[in-house]
Amino acid sequence: MAKHDKTDIGISTLLNPVPAVMISTSNKNGENNICTVAWAGTVNSEPPMVSISLRSSRLTHDYVDETGEFVINLVNKSLAKPCDRCGVRSGRDEDKFRTCGLTPVKAKGLDYAVAIKESPVSLSCKVVSRQELGSHDMYIAEIVGITADSYLMDDNGRLCLDKAKLVAYNHGEYFLLGEKIGFFGYSLASEDIIRRRLG
Ligand SMILES: Cc1cc2nc3c(=O)[nH]c(=O)nc-3n(C[C@H](O)[C@H](O)[C@H](O)COP(=O)(O)O)c2cc1C
Repeated sequence: MAKHDKTDIGISTLLNPVPAVMISTSNKNGENNICTVAWAGTVNSEPPMVSISLRSSRLTHDYVDETGEFVINLVNKSLAKPCDRCGVRSGRDEDKFRTCGLTPVKAKGLDYAVAIKESPVSLSCKVVSRQELGSHDMYIAEIVGITADSYLMDDNGRLCLDKAKLVAYNHGEYFLLGEKIGFFGYSLASEDIIRRRLG
């Protein structure tokens, strides 16, 4: 069989890799929750906007509807296991901040939803719309604040996200981001710049 011979494998949500992120939320009584989401993406640059899709059965869905707020917490290697647990247990049955040993902290620019202190980067989001798609409701939200661990900043105050050792989700499995093989526009960059940026 030749390398690029194709097999029809039907239709599914096969777009990969996707992020696995921890969505932290709170209700108006100050109860906090965390839920793992893979159906998340950037949808606009100015203003910076994201989408997350949630089944209506999730406690997180209730909390987001109640406050219009959520926080996207990026996941690194040490958060991979808590991230998985937050995706297989509901906040209706356990306090996931407690069972995962995580710390809720004030989220920049939000009134209700908390961020996860142990996450390297937390994006505070305010919902602007909700669309019912079928199995999931998609929330479109504006990013109103971001905090990052200080060790991720270089001497010029630039964020070095490659230092965060982030996790990606690929067809049901978690992967640690590894080798850097390029950068935006590198296909057109000079040998000199490529050597400087990629070593
Ligand atoms: C890797 C991973 C990705 C997930 N992605 C989503 C998602 O995009 N949307 C969703 O509604 N549920 C998703 N889930 C399932 C929820 O995280 C899970 O049902 C969770 O227990 C809901 O928690 P809650 O009821 O406390 O909100 C995912 C689970 C895992 C493990």
